[in-house]
Amino acid sequence: MEKLIIEGGKPLYGTVRISGAKNAALPLIAATLLAEGIHTLNNVPDLRDTRTILRLLESLGITWERHGTTLRIDSTNLTYSEASYDLVKTMRASVLVLGPLLARLGKAKVSLPGGCAIGARPIDFHIKGFEQLGVTCRLEQGYVDAEIDGRMQGSTIFFDVPSVTGTENLLMGAALAQGTTIIKNAAREPEIGNLVDMLTVMGAEIEGRGTDRLTIHGVERLYASESEIIPDRIEAGTYLIAVAATGGEVTVTDCNPAHLPSLLDKLRVAGMEIKELGNTITLDATGRQKIKCVDIKTMPYPGYPTDLQAQFMALMAMSDGVSIVHETIFENRFMHVAELHRMGADIAIDGHMAVVKGVGRTGFYGAPVMATDLRASSSLVIAGLAAKGRTEISRIYHLERGYEQMVEKLTALGATVWKEQE
Ligand code: EPU
Repeated sequence: MEKLIIEGGKPLYGTVRISGAKNAALPLIAATLLAEGIHTLNNVPDLRDTRTILRLLESLGITWERHGTTLRIDSTNLTYSEASYDLVKTMRASVLVLGPLLARLGKAKVSLPGGCAIGARPIDFHIKGFEQLGVTCRLEQGYVDAEIDGRMQGSTIFFDVPSVTGTENLLMGAALAQGTTIIKNAAREPEIGNLVDMLTVMGAEIEGRGTDRLTIHGVERLYASESEIIPDRIEAGTYLIAVAATGGEVTVTDCNPAHLPSLLDKLRVAGMEIKELGNTITLDATGRQKIKCVDIKTMPYPGYPTDLQAQFMALMAMSDGVSIVHETIFENRFMHVAELHRMGADIAIDGHMAVVKGVGRTGFYGAPVMATDLRASSSLVIAGLAAKGRTEISRIYHLERGYEQMVEKLTALGATVWKEQE
């Protein structure tokens, strides 16, 4: 296993290009199963998670090739319908093949993901939704065994809370159903808009893009197409928070500022100067000795994203006041707190809330810490970049699930960071 070493305390300067979004690439890759033929996807990040879903596609009989950031996926020979525990346990988003397999083959056997580091994360909304479309789902020996005779039947589906992959899975299934499906209280994350656009190019008929009510008029057939993955708003947000924490001035390019409304507002309140210009965002933190404290509460889009909670908490731990971080999406997403304590943070957890007493910009010091999940890892990277001295982060495979070339990108911004074998 590899660990990441950071010699911290240096401000970041320069330009960093944002990669395609992991959480858009995964559903768009799964959507290629819906139609035979050769699909082209552009701006696909090369990450541990995108490699996992491609391995899953291979296990179903699909072939693919990558040329730079372009993927060509030939979905003609979809011959198997089972997503095994081995793959699903390493990446929950594997459940995204359920909808496409049911739509194309009328059957799917997908391992239940089980718990993960950030919470229980059930898939009951997905299952209930498919049952409403006429699918029979049996839960046996850790698998969902789903089957339908003929096409799924359009219906009205309501989510108790908006689910991102739940909305995506049902969108894909309903696109080939007979009749009209309405998804109420649908998630509105930009990655869902990306999927709607791809399905539309493939021939699907979907109304309500970007809203919490999606209407899908099922069609008999979809066609292979060419689509582009949107920029990764969480990667962009992570670099912006890193610059706010270290000081300096950085422009993130090839991103979509409109996808980060809540974070940009919070960073401005924290005292950062931010300029949005076209597809770039520049954050200037030069000369700012103090970071103002700001409260955040995670919410479905367009609220503050849970995937940027840990990173913002690291920033608030270096502020000059007390802030409240309220996590409403996942019940166990404070794993980074114990590790941040090892670097000088003063944070108390009370249920879904964390009371963060800022220790100031210079209050952090390097320490050996352990990555526990993807976003917790990036908060430790931010803390390490800002801290005095050396930080060693073990188990960085978590980081590699969602950040493309992070060491290279940070090095280009002037950080001293490298990987070593543990
Ligand atoms: N939920 C249920 N039952 C379900 C589905 C969801 O109770 O069947 C609950 C969840 O436990 C959670 C809430 O509903 O409390 C929302 O979860 P959601 O289904 O939206 O999460 P997800 O689709 O599994 C995606 C992202 C996550 C991101 C969340 C929230 C992908 C591949 N994953 O997960 O990304 O945190 O939405 O925005 O899109 C990450 O990239 O680090 C990551 C964890």
